Amino acid sequence: MQLLQAFIALLVLFRSSASGVVVPRQSEITEDSYFYGQSPPVYPTPEMPGSGPWAVAYAKAVALVSQMTLEEKANVTVGHSTSTGCSGVTGSVPRLGWPGLCLSDAGNGLRATDLVNGWPSGIHVGASWNRDLAYQRALHMGGEFKTKGVNVALGPVIGPLGRVAKAGRNWEGISNDPYLGGELVYQTVLGIQTAGVITSVKHYIGNEQETNRNPSSNVSAVSSNIDDKTIHETYLWPFASAVHAGAGCVMCSYNRVNNSYSCQNSKLLNGLLKTELGFEGWVTSDWDAQHTGLSSTLAGLDVAMPNSSFWGTNGENLTLSVTNGSVPESRVTDMVTRIVASWYQMGQDTNFPVEGIGMPANYYDPHVTINARDPSSKPVLIDGAMEGHVLVKNTNNALPLNSPKMISIFGYDAQAPPANDIESASQVFGAWTVGGESILDYAGFFSPLPPPQIAINGTIISGGNGANSPAYISAPFDALNEQAYNDGTAIFWDFTSQDPTVDTSTDACLVFINAFATEGYDRVGLHDDYSDNLIENVAASCSNTIVVIHNAGPRLVDQWIENPNITAVIFAHLPGQDSGRALVQLLYGYESFSGKLPYTVAKNESDYINAGNPSEPEGIYELFPQSDFTEGVYIDYKGFDQNDITPRYEFGFGLTYTTFAYSDLDISLSPSVSTSCLPPSPENIIQGGIASLWDVVATVTAVVQNTGEVDASEIAQLYIGIPGGPVRQLRGFEKVLIEAGTSVTVSFDLLRRDLSEWDTGAQSWVLQQGQYGVWVGASSRILPLSGTLVIS
Ligand SMILES: *[C@@H]1O[C@H](CO)[C@@H](O)[C@H](O)[C@H]1NC(C)=O
Ligand SMILES: *[C@@H]1O[C@H](CO)[C@@H](O)[C@H](O)[C@H]1NC(C)=O
Ligand SMILES: *[C@@H]1O[C@H](CO)[C@@H](O)[C@H](O)[C@H]1NC(C)=O
Ligand SMILES: *[C@@H]1O[C@H](CO)[C@@H](O)[C@H](O)[C@H]1NC(C)=O
Ligand SMILES: *[C@@H]1O[C@H](CO)[C@@H](O)[C@H](O)[C@H]1NC(C)=O
Ligand SMILES: *[C@@H]1O[C@H](CO)[C@@H](O)[C@H](O)[C@H]1NC(C)=O
Ligand SMILES: *[C@@H]1O[C@H](CO)[C@@H](O)[C@H](O)[C@H]1NC(C)=O
Ligand SMILES: *[C@@H]1O[C@H](CO)[C@@H](O)[C@H](O)[C@H]1NC(C)=O
Ligand SMILES: *[C@@H]1O[C@H](CO)[C@@H](O)[C@H](O)[C@H]1NC(C)=O
Repeated sequence: MQLLQAFIALLVLFRSSASGVVVPRQSEITEDSYFYGQSPPVYPTPEMPGSGPWAVAYAKAVALVSQMTLEEKANVTVGHSTSTGCSGVTGSVPRLGWPGLCLSDAGNGLRATDLVNGWPSGIHVGASWNRDLAYQRALHMGGEFKTKGVNVALGPVIGPLGRVAKAGRNWEGISNDPYLGGELVYQTVLGIQTAGVITSVKHYIGNEQETNRNPSSNVSAVSSNIDDKTIHETYLWPFASAVHAGAGCVMCSYNRVNNSYSCQNSKLLNGLLKTELGFEGWVTSDWDAQHTGLSSTLAGLDVAMPNSSFWGTNGENLTLSVTNGSVPESRVTDMVTRIVASWYQMGQDTNFPVEGIGMPANYYDPHVTINARDPSSKPVLIDGAMEGHVLVKNTNNALPLNSPKMISIFGYDAQAPPANDIESASQVFGAWTVGGESILDYAGFFSPLPPPQIAINGTIISGGNGANSPAYISAPFDALNEQAYNDGTAIFWDFTSQDPTVDTSTDACLVFINAFATEGYDRVGLHDDYSDNLIENVAASCSNTIVVIHNAGPRLVDQWIENPNITAVIFAHLPGQDSGRALVQLLYGYESFSGKLPYTVAKNESDYINAGNPSEPEGIYELFPQSDFTEGVYIDYKGFDQNDITPRYEFGFGLTYTTFAYSDLDISLSPSVSTSCLPPSPENIIQGGIASLWDVVATVTAVVQNTGEVDASEIAQLYIGIPGGPVRQLRGFEKVLIEAGTSVTVSFDLLRRDLSEWDTGAQSWVLQQGQYGVWVGASSRILPLSGTLVIS
């Protein structure tokens, strides 16, 4: 609390007296240079370290780039027009046979092509809490990018982190907890890159809302104003994990940070990323996110996509800036060295398909069709779909279903959407709306209207825009029909009525709704009356109502959650193409639920204090919208804990078909590792930061017993109270399958990083002297085991 107050005081100070000036009135602010200078200058751009695991690729890149002319180098750094369907291509060097790179969307499956799989979205990966599954998904998905000749996958997404509950792209990211997001993005980067494809981890950084994410003719992009401690402990953390995994590319974001555009912010690019995190890769702009030539060059931007009006169509103005002495040629050489090294590092110099070969510009032209789907992906797709389902309520033994004689299926989200094709797939799920008012279609996507809160014409397996065309969709209704055939169950259904008739003979009523979100817009609410009324109407005449929500972000349930006729509720998230098939496995108990919430479900929107809504341009900041991250690190459960607000379902919560007991907590410091509370030596910087941050300082173990009748996986969670920090922070989790009646020991390694706080004075991570709280349990609020760890 003290910390927060101190930070608010600091912010007020820096807002009201940047260089001692009093804030002018709105009429006096005519251009945003008033705000500049808050992001400290960090120059020059560090050259690629080329160390450790990158040494060989670096040496090869240096050898190749040394043969390039300045013009050839500058040409590589800009996006070019292309006859492929790649989202973007870098320049090539035909004289030396260097082919250039094809970059394509997105983090949840290859977009704008056929014969690829529709994978679970980032939020679903987050809800699965499964490191190995995250790796397998990434490995198989990455293989599809490679088969189609895509060098760079434009993902994974770890920003937005999820600060703003209503933000439109939270579903692309993994979790608003930096530790959970960091662990799973680490595996995702490893998996995609092991498949031979460069990851472009995005969006760096502070891209926490869609509202005003880009400048318009008279209003600049929103500025995420983030203090040094908060950016390190929250927003930068998962990027550090991704860099530690060896990410070859990072994408800078649309927004500004401290009033400086992310793609020309030297503190972010030269400072945090390329110095502090020892980043070996290159920085690409988000599409059209470059706003200057010289400033972005010197701040550390390496590639401008999809082209550059600043560096020139073929980089001619970048060349000019070298010949006229504004930019050292070594800067341009470093840009290209980083790019070419990442190509060698992923082995793309041998047997890589022709760039963009599977990505024809016109999908419907006769073309050599390339099937990127590998049969070995099947178990990964279905496991991925199953494990992200979170059961939050299950009363009267509503689930699992057991050969019911009749079930009734209601709601617009039960059946497949009306179309699946390349042209419309990325928006098909959001192309329809309530009340006949069509809002989203392909042509009108960038219309100023907000998208509907729900996708009314069929089930959603992903959010909008950043999504791909799945190979097929197993809709809940399809899979339930198949199961009914096997069981001899009768099915009644009504997908359109808001007040359907319930047959009194039905054993259960399944109601399918969704909460839709898409790039470009923030959500207008966290629940909608149309769906809530539907649920209430069914529950009024059905005493066994089971609600399934496909949700692209947190979705409130308090309108009806305490209705005793609502016996089971599932947050089904965005499972990808095996959605229905996976759901039936869980509903009928062939598999046990094993997901847990990667965010908090509040009782009411206003409980997401500080950060429920995106910041709007207003008051004196009308032309220069400001988003002050005054809550510091206290987002999601850390804010609920700090303010003593009881959520409906806390972060980390999820039920299954059995129960678990926790015992035998053991906490031990590693005897041979230094626990000095001085800043660690910054000498040995590896990818991700100072090497010793990855030392195991302590280990915690506990025993988890399956006390029920059914085999199931538990996600055991470790929370730590770092002195001076939030009440509790997630610092370990293990997902383990435990057979009924048996026990397993779970073990959590605590790294120096996990136990340190960012010391703004020392500009380093430091261990805190004193008592650390240690808790182990089933969620952020179900913590049966507790102890302390003392660092002296
Ligand atoms: C943003 O400004 C805050 C407050 O001055 C400072 O702590 C932080 O380091 C700055 N970060 C960047 C990236 O400019
Ligand atoms: C620049 O890159 C483009 C696109 O790959 C290529 O067609 C062109 O030949 C390159 N120019 C030079 C000078 O290498
Ligand atoms: C920005 O321009 C639009 C369109 O001309 C106008 O409606 C709006 O009021 C302007 N906003 C501000 C803050 O001046
Ligand atoms: C960049 O690409 C866009 C879209 O294709 C095009 O309208 C624009 O003219 C291009 N700009 C440059 C500098 O090549
Ligand atoms: C390149 O620089 C010249 C001179 O400053 C300018 O006139 C021209 O518009 C620039 N070209 C591009 C593509 O930015
Ligand atoms: C050098 O060229 C760059 C790119 O055209 C331009 O922005 C800059 O103003 C020029 N500087 C000088 C000193 O001419
Ligand atoms: C989508 O649903 C709306 C409202 O029910 C309906 O008017 C429209 O025809 C549907 N569109 C398709 C393609 O089915
Ligand atoms: C529960 O369902 C029964 C019908 O099975 C109905 O009579 C009752 O009113 C419902 N209760 C509520 C609270 O909606
Ligand atoms: C619930 O949240 C809404 C929107 O933030 C707010 O207007 C309302 O007052 C809140 N209700 C309660 C009971 O807190």
